[in-house]
Amino acid sequence: NPIKTPDITTLCKEAYPGQGEPLRTIKCCPPNIGKEIKPFVFPKKERARRRWPAHDGSRKQVEKYKNAVRAMRALPDDHPHSFVNQAKFHCAYCNGGYTQVENGFPDIEIQIHNSWLFFPFHSWYLYFYERILGKLINDPTFALPYWNWDDPAGMMMPEIFAMEEDNNPLFDPNRNRGHDPPTILNLEFFGQENEYSNETQIECNLITVRRDLITNGCDTISFFGGAYVAGNPPPGTRDDSVGSVEAGSHTAMHIWVGDRNRPLREDMGNFYSSGYDPLFFAHHSNVDRMWKLWKDLDYRGHKDPTNPDWLNASYVFYDENQDLVRVYNKDCVDIKKLGYEFKEPEGPLPWLKSRP
Ligand code: C2O
Repeated sequence: NPIKTPDITTLCKEAYPGQGEPLRTIKCCPPNIGKEIKPFVFPKKERARRRWPAHDGSRKQVEKYKNAVRAMRALPDDHPHSFVNQAKFHCAYCNGGYTQVENGFPDIEIQIHNSWLFFPFHSWYLYFYERILGKLINDPTFALPYWNWDDPAGMMMPEIFAMEEDNNPLFDPNRNRGHDPPTILNLEFFGQENEYSNETQIECNLITVRRDLITNGCDTISFFGGAYVAGNPPPGTRDDSVGSVEAGSHTAMHIWVGDRNRPLREDMGNFYSSGYDPLFFAHHSNVDRMWKLWKDLDYRGHKDPTNPDWLNASYVFYDENQDLVRVYNKDCVDIKKLGYEFKEPEGPLPWLKSRP
């Protein structure tokens, strides 16, 4: 049977981020404001929200984005849309906040990483996050930026996130400041700095992207991650059930951004704290884009899962109207229906021919 996450407001238990003090959040449960879970309804036909490369936004796009995040940060913490609560979602779904109680296994915790739930869960998470931000600034076409780390032009921390001045709402002090721009990012970073020239690092990064999308992601399971169904224990990072992008470039960027001097590499280096860094959402916007690019490559094996246990797995979120909705994997495979798209850089994909 498909994993079914419970009502996130009432059936949420204390999460455990790991060892290390001081922890920002242990109680990761979103607030209960007395709502019943509703079925998801697709957005009305509206102008598509066009996600933009974070290093190349227009002045207007950047201003809007900052205003929206500023407005989110200004909400009281107990508001379902607050910055803190949006961050808590990630903690609750990843650090033991929920069990498979709806599946009849109240003692088995849910983990939405390290398996085929990775892409769809994060895609839904961003879908609502984007619409909430748009609502906060009254802009129905508001779109998130994406961190274009697969393109040489985007291979550093985007400046708009890194600037500390003027109370930049996109800045987060809990990062590895040694990786501020113009440091070239390393898509193979698992804690060890290397001494490559910028040119070599860029070359290596392109090879990594191609590896994650093509060489190691040649069929559905290797790209998405392995099956994870009701009754299974939470998959671990070392299980071979982790998909190619998740295990590779995705995780490397989390570790590359997180503060190595903090006990749990907060913020980006740990599940519980990742959502406190606005860069998380730009990062995952690009992960979401990788899913789309992978499908668009049109190789024979590049197909979304068709297993009903994947299609019918479901999660609960607060939508932009503060309603609780249940959403299914099968409803996030077509981003057109969800009303968003990606503005693609001109020219061919820079990594398409980057063989080692
Ligand atoms: Cu839910 Cu990039 O992690």
